[in-house]
Amino acid sequence: MSLPKQVKIVEVGPRDGLQNEQLSISTAIKIELIERLADAGIRSIEAGSFVNPKWVPAMADSEDVFTGLKRKPGVSYTALTPNLKGFERALSVNASEVAVFSAASETFSQKNINCSIDTSLQRFLPLMKAAKAAGIPVRGYVSCVLGCPYEGDVSAEKVRQIALSMLDMGCYEISLGDTIGVGTAGNVIALLNCLVQTIPTKKLAVHFHDTYGQALSNIYAALTAGISVVDSSIAGLGGCPYAAGASGNVATEDLVYLLNGLNIDCGIALQKLLDAGNYISAQLDRDNSSKTAQALRNK
Ligand code: HMG
Ligand code: MG
Repeated sequence: MSLPKQVKIVEVGPRDGLQNEQLSISTAIKIELIERLADAGIRSIEAGSFVNPKWVPAMADSEDVFTGLKRKPGVSYTALTPNLKGFERALSVNASEVAVFSAASETFSQKNINCSIDTSLQRFLPLMKAAKAAGIPVRGYVSCVLGCPYEGDVSAEKVRQIALSMLDMGCYEISLGDTIGVGTAGNVIALLNCLVQTIPTKKLAVHFHDTYGQALSNIYAALTAGISVVDSSIAGLGGCPYAAGASGNVATEDLVYLLNGLNIDCGIALQKLLDAGNYISAQLDRDNSSKTAQALRNK
């Protein structure tokens, strides 16, 4: 078993974390959070999404977030874009990178983006063409890779086919979303064993929600299988508006603590990260759900 020497953290808190918040968070607070995350050493930050604001009102100010940001050199400020319209909005505010998102479950696809999996892939094609012309890298998400809130079990083979289609159309990497956090280390390994038959591990990332408290062990399992890109959310914020009861992603603070313990370089200043997590938790008027943040605060 070998572990990667370096891991890239993709911070999704400002998007996946805040998209589901009922308490309205001002644009200024979002910007402050993103700037603190960059200052802590995060190199890839999903700063917002360009979806229909009627569906996800919490992301309606994403243009203002992108235009208000003081950008740090070397940091990629990324945006979730479901279609060409979303891409054009992202391009108009100079997003460094965009992400398209599909799912391995038909019912989830319908609930989340109001179309079938095949239609979602078709909608990506003009976006991919426009992104290529503009020189903007596109990441791909596949949701529900380890289970669906509506359909239950999901086949690894189906995940592999969708991931391959998205890579074929030009995504540089596929992030595997355990949207409802039901996976365990055993089925993470089984899924990856299936995928790596035809997809190089360097083209895969993992995105674990922590509903059942399995995210860190799932990440460890993925690291042992050669994965070196991991999504996480500051203070463990988040959930998906179309996956009731799903909790946030693994907390970035807990991920960094794990990586530090494994001597895996991720380039993050933990104290600054803790400050960012405590800042946004205070703004949301809630306790920081990262165990590492809680433990270090009580020390
Ligand atoms: P639709 O209603 O089917 O779209 O939405 P439509 O093409 O029929 O258009 C209807 C209206 O939406 C029109 O406006 C369009 O202009 C507008 P109207 O004429 O009614 O005024 N519209 C848009 N407006 C702004 N930006 C756009 C856009 N596109 C259309 N880009 C759509 C289709 C995908 C847009 C919609 O279903 C939607 O916005 N869904 C929200 C999806 C979402 O944000 N989900 C949460 C993020 S995914 C997630 O969290 C999972 C992930 O973290 C991984 C994991 O954990 O698994 C990534
Ligand atoms: Mg997610």
